Amino acid sequence: MIPALIISKKRDGQRLSESEIRYMISGYARGDVPDYQMAALAMAIFIRGMEPEEISQLTDAMIATGNCMERVSERPRVDKHSTGGLGDKTSLILGPMLACCDLDVPMISGRGLGITGGTLDKLESIAGYRCDLSEQESGQQLSKIGCFITGASQSLVPADKKLYGLRDVTGTVPSVALITASIMSKKIAETLDALVLDVKWGTGAFLEGIDQARELAFSLCANGKRAGIATSALLSDMNQPLGRMVGNACEVEESIEVMQGKGPQDVWELTRELSARVLVSVGRAVDLEQARMLLQGHLDSGRVMERFEQMVSMQGGDLGKSRRLGRITEVRAPRSGWLERIDGQRLGQAVIVMGGGRIQAGQSIDPSVGLAMERRLGDRVEKGDLLVAILCDPEAKAESARVLVNESISIGDRPVDRIGLWQEFDSRA
Ligand code: URA
Repeated sequence: MIPALIISKKRDGQRLSESEIRYMISGYARGDVPDYQMAALAMAIFIRGMEPEEISQLTDAMIATGNCMERVSERPRVDKHSTGGLGDKTSLILGPMLACCDLDVPMISGRGLGITGGTLDKLESIAGYRCDLSEQESGQQLSKIGCFITGASQSLVPADKKLYGLRDVTGTVPSVALITASIMSKKIAETLDALVLDVKWGTGAFLEGIDQARELAFSLCANGKRAGIATSALLSDMNQPLGRMVGNACEVEESIEVMQGKGPQDVWELTRELSARVLVSVGRAVDLEQARMLLQGHLDSGRVMERFEQMVSMQGGDLGKSRRLGRITEVRAPRSGWLERIDGQRLGQAVIVMGGGRIQAGQSIDPSVGLAMERRLGDRVEKGDLLVAILCDPEAKAESARVLVNESISIGDRPVDRIGLWQEFDSRA
């Protein structure tokens, strides 16, 4: 086959055949198809889109470049995927919590890139925590305690690692077809029975509009179902950070508070709702109401926190070693009114300028920096009230962050209507 002909076919809006897709993806993973040809195809897909069948074939071609994970027990295998947002720490709680429900949760997570944080970066702020478990280690841990959170091994969809890096530098990340194949190839390779998706929209997500989020949720759910995975989704509001903390070490602290029954209500509510859908999907609960009660019981009994401690300790982490947080710089309300908008992109940039996030893959992270959001959208504030506490030692970085945080917050003259934290996504619609 000739790559240039395949690329021009897609450029002209024609459907690619299964063998053409497989040829390009397997060739790219092996190094036979060069970056410039793959970049051209990614751009053609970005502009022209793909039919659902093509997306499924692309997903399968990507999976075929590596190995699927093996089952280690009779327990149903389940997972969650979030499209990423500010302060999203649900994975840290959801993994151990679903393991308490006698499920296997083989959670392969990623690092932060751009404004959204990464679960692995957060967990690595725990002294000693390892995100590089071998396949044997992760299998043993799963059979013993039912959960792990680690990075992808070299053999799990190697085509995605390479292609994602290429998309990142060619402006082709926000394509429904490419995102679907990227996310679902990794989830299908985890050999799951059920998956719940947290598709985020708003100023702090990479899709700003709810309609785009719905389109992505539809594509992801359709792709999961055709692979035999019971897939459900919530659309969640990312017009303000989830919970109070945004950063790495500070988000671990907040997750621990939630697991101790003390953390912010929104973090618990979203984690519980996502988990409840998984329990219903695998028949561990007859309906969402029963699922919520079960989950609340595990939280209240301290079992979720216990399972988290086990997971951290098995992955080499020491929760007893304190996690340093940066010095506080306050951002106060410049006037009285109602908190009407938070620009999540700017807020995310504030974390990046402090060193808490990355612009390029591979950059190191300062886990001690972050933001503590003291007010929520819709709150009444008086001039001089504390809005955000910036956590950062170096003064120059804290000052740059302070300017961005100030710019990110708008205070208006009238109360604002808020929509709910999450909405059900009906994949039959
Ligand atoms: N997350 C992924 O894993 N892949 C994408 O393409 C976008 C978000």
